[in-house]
Amino acid sequence: MINEMETFEQHESEIRAYCRAVPTVFKKSSNAIMTDENDKEYIDFFAGAGVLNFGHNNPKMKEAVIDFIQRDGVVHSLDMFTDVKRDFINTFVKTVLEPRGMKNRKLQFTGPTGTNAVEAALKLARKVTGRTEVVACNRGFHGMTLGALACTANNAFRSSSGVPLTHVIRGTFDDMRALELMEQKFKDAGSGLTPPAAFLIEPVQAEGGVRVASKEWLQGVQKLANDLGALFILDDIQAGCGRCGSYFSFDDMGVDPDIIILAKGLGGFGTPIGMLVNKPEYDKAWGPGQHTGTFRGQGISFVAGKVGLEYFNDDSFVNEAKQKGETIRATLDELQAKYEIVDVRQKGLMLAIEFKTAQIAKDVASTCFENGLIIGACSTGEILKFIPPLTIEKQNLEKGLDIFANAVAKVLG
Ligand SMILES: Cc1ncc(COP(=O)(O)O)c(C=O)c1O
Repeated sequence: MINEMETFEQHESEIRAYCRAVPTVFKKSSNAIMTDENDKEYIDFFAGAGVLNFGHNNPKMKEAVIDFIQRDGVVHSLDMFTDVKRDFINTFVKTVLEPRGMKNRKLQFTGPTGTNAVEAALKLARKVTGRTEVVACNRGFHGMTLGALACTANNAFRSSSGVPLTHVIRGTFDDMRALELMEQKFKDAGSGLTPPAAFLIEPVQAEGGVRVASKEWLQGVQKLANDLGALFILDDIQAGCGRCGSYFSFDDMGVDPDIIILAKGLGGFGTPIGMLVNKPEYDKAWGPGQHTGTFRGQGISFVAGKVGLEYFNDDSFVNEAKQKGETIRATLDELQAKYEIVDVRQKGLMLAIEFKTAQIAKDVASTCFENGLIIGACSTGEILKFIPPLTIEKQNLEKGLDIFANAVAKVLG
């Protein structure tokens, strides 16, 4: 049996994280299956933490990427104009922006990680308003670089910052009463609070444990932001790109964000792009190169990302994904009826099951792994999140759910 992990243990930093939960060496992957060096197959319910919405090695993307490389397409272009970037932009405008009446939005490519896109959004909001504070929520996750980390709520991540994480006012997610109190304070000249540059919100908190904002609250936040002259920023990095039942996770919320932040699934093939969708009146505050970055012209991501966007030409793809979400929901509801399970939450094909302790979640996930299923924990460890590729085959979804249900039975039964 090959499973040489010593190389990593000896030479790779202690920062290693996901690999500790799935201790094997993978060599191959296809749609929702990852195969290790011993030819053991695992069903992937984690999909690169929400990157691989269209599956591992999506065949349409693979073909397009191979053609692009074969013809010596421009793989790296800084922010120079390329044919594939133009195709990607035109497809995004036609498929996503036009149907939503957002055709005039400006697309800003940032460094390719989500956290870099968040940094760019924060910088733009501060530049536009001349203010420093930003409102971000409890259980929010926005990334690891210092500005984004200041907005991230989880202390496990915050505690390694090495410097104070400042200029963030902590709001309470999806809580109308807390929002009213915040409004009173912002509008009271004697409260000591000054108006913020922005409200940075995940419409569906993903790492926070699949917590879905209500329409009333999200619209209330937008109204407060508008009243205060602050920007309303939605971080759809993990919940967007079709994950929650439509292209944006907030399509059914009746809101009109000033900046939308996208990354993860946008590059399609597991290859990165970070992008802001800015209202033009705010975008014009940028001068050339004021948030620059070497990796903003990702040719492979533009090519594969365009293929990914074509899945949204009509509703059949998102409807199928929603149906898969319902299949998972049925299993989780059954488990909740049988065992002590704190909560089950869902939007589209993003679901969470919350156990009483992080140890239970860990034991369930490791039993799943032993039996050929990859599933990841989130929040402070007590929640397991279901984010398989949207393209997962029915039989692999059902097989994965059987493995999961058996693991829960073993740990809680
Ligand atoms: C909502 C959200 N924002 C930002 C990020 C940070 O993205 P990245 O890890 O690519 O920097 C993540 C990553 O999980 C996320 O889920």
